[in-house]
Formats: sequence, structure tokens, C-alpha cells
Amino acid sequence: MLDSAFRRDAKERPNMRAVTFSRFGGPEVLEVSELPEPQPGPGEVRIRVAAATVNPTDISFRSGRQAAQLTGTGVLPPYIPGMELAGVVDAVGEGTAWHTGDRVMAIVTPRRPGGGAQAELVVVPATSVARVPEGTSLEAAATLPMNGLTVRLALDRLALRPGQTLGVTGAAGAVGGYAVELGVSDGLRVIAVARSQDAALVKRFGAQTLVPRGDAAVRGLHDAAPGGVDGLIDAAVLDAAVLPAIRDGGKLATVRGFAGPSERAITIEPVRVTSYLHNHEALDRLARLVAEGRLILRVAEIFPLERAADAQRKLDAGGIRGRLVIVF
Ligand SMILES: NC(=O)c1ccc[n+]([C@@H]2O[C@H](COP(=O)([O-])OP(=O)(O)OC[C@H]3O[C@@H](n4cnc5c(N)ncnc54)[C@H](OP(=O)(O)O)[C@@H]3O)[C@@H](O)[C@H]2O)c1
Repeated sequence: MLDSAFRRDAKERPNMRAVTFSRFGGPEVLEVSELPEPQPGPGEVRIRVAAATVNPTDISFRSGRQAAQLTGTGVLPPYIPGMELAGVVDAVGEGTAWHTGDRVMAIVTPRRPGGGAQAELVVVPATSVARVPEGTSLEAAATLPMNGLTVRLALDRLALRPGQTLGVTGAAGAVGGYAVELGVSDGLRVIAVARSQDAALVKRFGAQTLVPRGDAAVRGLHDAAPGGVDGLIDAAVLDAAVLPAIRDGGKLATVRGFAGPSERAITIEPVRVTSYLHNHEALDRLARLVAEGRLILRVAEIFPLERAADAQRKLDAGGIRGRLVIVF
């Protein structure tokens, strides 16, 4: 549907600008292209994008590491990266409850014919959209949908009970930070693994204990949760190396596909946020947590779309606290 929306009457419609790439490679393959404006079909909204974030997945997509995921999708270059955005609804298809002018944020997969989030206009299903809380900037709102829903999915898969312990690696990062905050909001006792310099940050998220990252992290998690944590969200992608930190029969949520082998009856839950692409209720609940001040949105730096390559270079270099945001 999006494919035809994208190409139908393309010659007669005005263009929009988007961050694109037409071959896999380094950040230099990114460019700004003019593409025909997409039109919303039934059940879809078109968003005039104010801000879209840069995430590790955009680097994998551009480098070709995710090329296999394009097989059978019919997605052709130019590719548009980006999985989350915020902006203002500027056109609606039939059968949606959204209105022109609504301030919204949305999650989108770039592995579809209509492309990803880093474009002036993006068409998404109405189910991928939530209202931006009043008082929240569109730049900040753009940092929530993809990583917030990833953590919501991870916590849903871990299915821990209030009072149980949750370990979080990479706790100062985008996924890790939300994992600490949403874990706390679910009533869990959160033990965060991060650099010692990030102690104040992860405490602000609500972590009960900070365990310094590195070789002694597993021992530190056992000191904080004797016998091991009940569940762990591994945002630092340590994979098998964190299994010893989890109690017998506990659960591990992984974010880069690690599925085992496991040990001591630990369940491994590989998480893919695309399962929650249409989970409007979950996105809406995340927005409410922001409105209630229980979820902190962090913008590290803002880039114009012409500097998308610089943003990817900066993210790839590591050490960013908060998200890099492209504005349109
Ligand atoms: N499966 C899905 O659906 C899904 C969705 C969203 C994200 N992800 C994945 O989740 C991961 C985290 O994403 P993100 O956006 O949160 O990245 P991020 O903001 O860069 O955070 C990663 C965190 O992990 C830390 N870290 C990196 N290597 C480490 C190591 N060896 N030991 C301990 N800590 C380490 C980093 O610390 P420094 O910055 O100090 O190095 C940083 O705080 C990425 O791999 C991303 O692709 C998957």
C-alpha cells in the first residue's frame, strides 16, 4: 500500500527531502534526496516530521549488516533510515481518529517500501502513533517510541513480578536508561550496570544499585542480588557473558538476536521491537509516563538533515549520553 502511495502519480506530486542511501557502505553514502511526497491510505496518517533520531540500527542498516532482512520485502533503494520520529499530522486517511495539527510521535520500520523516519513527510499506520504530551518538545518526543517500546516488549517478555530484581547492562544508554526507569515503574528492584561516572545518571533513573561495568560486573550483580537477578535486559549486548549473573530458572532479554545456548534453565528472550510496531496502547502508556515525570527524555545533540552522516559517526564513536536527533 505504501509502495503504491509512494510511486503513484509521482510525477505530478511535489517533492520532499529525505536522508537516503542507495548503496551500503560508510557514513559517506548518506545523502539528502528529493522524493515524491507520500500519501496516506485508509488507516494511515501522514506526519510532517520535526525530528527523527539516530540509532545503532541505522548504522547497521546503512553498512549492509542488515541486508538479509531486506530479502523478500520488495524494498528498493533509495533507502530511508530511521525508526522513530515526532511531528505534526498533516494528512489523514479514512478511518483514523487523528486530526491535522495533532502533535504526535511514531515508530516506523525503514525496511518497508515507504522507508523510515528520516524524511520531511512520513506515512505510518495510525496504530504506530501516540500523542506527544503537552510541554514536551518534538525533539525530545522523537527519542521515545523505538527504544521505549523495545524496553516495554523486553519487560513484557520477562514478565517479572513487583519486588523481583531486574539487572540492566548498558544502563546509561538509550535502551538501558528506559529499562531502568520502566523497570522501576513496574515495581522492580533495578540493579544497573554502567560506568562509575554514570552513577548519578542511573540513580536519577531510579536504579537501586550501580554495578560498575567490566570484568567484575557479574560478581557485583551477585553481591546486589545473591543467587543472581531474576531477569536481565542486556542493552550492552554482552550475550552469553551475562548468563552467570542470572539466577537458576531466571530470564534474559537480548536485543541483538542472541538466543543461546543457555544454562541452568535460564530462558532467553530475543526481543525485536518490530513486534510492537502497532502497539498504540503501549506507546500511549509511555507518553503518559513522560507526562507524569516518570520517564526522562534525553536529547544529546541536534543535527540538520544535511549532517546525518556526522550524527551516525558520532553515535558510532560511543559514549553518547542521550539521543542524537535530526531536525527537518
Ligand atoms: N532488538 C531490538 O528491537 C532493538 C531495539 C533497540 C535497540 N536495540 C539494540 O540495543 C542496543 C543498545 O542500543 P542503545 O540505543 O541503547 O545504544 P547506546 O545508547 O549506545 O547504549 C549502549 C550502552 O551500552 C554500553 N556498552 C557498550 N559496550 C559495553 C560493554 N562491552 N560493556 C558494558 N557496557 C557497554 C555503552 O556504554 P558507552 O557509551 O560508555 O560505551 C552504552 O551506555 C544496540 O545494540 C541496539 O542495536 C535493539
